[in-house]
Amino acid sequence: MSKKLEDKIVIVTGATSGMGAAIAKLFASEGAKVVVNGRNKERGELIVKSIIEIGGIASFVQSDISTEEGNSTLFNETIKLYGGLDIVVANAGFLGLGSITEVSVETWNKVINTNLNSIFYLLRLAIPEMLKRGLGNVIINGSIAAFKSFPNHPAYCATKGALVPLIKQIALDYAPKIRANLICPGPIDTPLIWDSAQAFPNPEKAVSDAANATLLNRLGRPEDVAKAALFLASEDSSFITGTTLIVDGGRLIT
Ligand SMILES: NC(=O)c1ccc[n+]([C@@H]2O[C@H](COP(=O)([O-])OP(=O)(O)OC[C@H]3O[C@@H](n4cnc5c(N)ncnc54)[C@H](OP(=O)(O)O)[C@@H]3O)[C@@H](O)[C@H]2O)c1
Repeated sequence: MSKKLEDKIVIVTGATSGMGAAIAKLFASEGAKVVVNGRNKERGELIVKSIIEIGGIASFVQSDISTEEGNSTLFNETIKLYGGLDIVVANAGFLGLGSITEVSVETWNKVINTNLNSIFYLLRLAIPEMLKRGLGNVIINGSIAAFKSFPNHPAYCATKGALVPLIKQIALDYAPKIRANLICPGPIDTPLIWDSAQAFPNPEKAVSDAANATLLNRLGRPEDVAKAALFLASEDSSFITGTTLIVDGGRLIT
């Protein structure tokens, strides 16, 4: 059976952990050449090693995507490594907890830079390259925080909310050559959910409450989101663009 992403060149930001790592592994197993991005070299190289061990193709590019320079490095290294770019998965995220009156200006700006400005910085380089190649695909990892508030998450919720109109705009401006879709995960079992739980009086209870508040009575697995990303990246979703796919075990309904 042919692979779903044979020879596609893919950047996954924030692929040194959690959902990004699961997406990188699944995409590589489907034939993609994957650029694993993050700041942590040790974790990034371990992910690459695990991909190469199962016969996949991947490289680690260390860069901080909250800066314009970090995105230039990521893009330029990708072109140097693989000679082009077909798919961007903008997955990296940062919480920056604290209510409006508590959070520092520095943390507020770091959330905006990591969760929103990074997408602008990377896509303004990536989209012309994709258009040159004829076709492209953009997937952004948002959050149900776009639709639901969490205590002391104002910058996070604001940036994730901004992605809902942004994805439609990208889809509109670059159709039909480029498809663009947003995934909004619910509670997923990664280090970030434990960071998020620190905003609650009892973090352990907050995580188990989050699991129980889904209709499926569990946290999502990083692989659940990776499968949704694969669907959006592949021809299986060839008539889908500008949409928001909620992967939350029914959490928004409860
Ligand atoms: N877990 C959840 O319940 C949940 C729910 C909804 C949405 N999300 C979203 O899903 C995405 C993935 O999160 P996760 O849960 O998989 O968290 P995670 O396991 O903590 O991973 C976060 C990733 O983002 C990377 N990252 C953060 N800042 C970066 C920067 N400035 N430059 C480059 N990489 C950066 C980290 O890499 P380094 O540390 O190596 O830089 C790490 O690989 C995020 O956008 C998050 O907001 C998570």
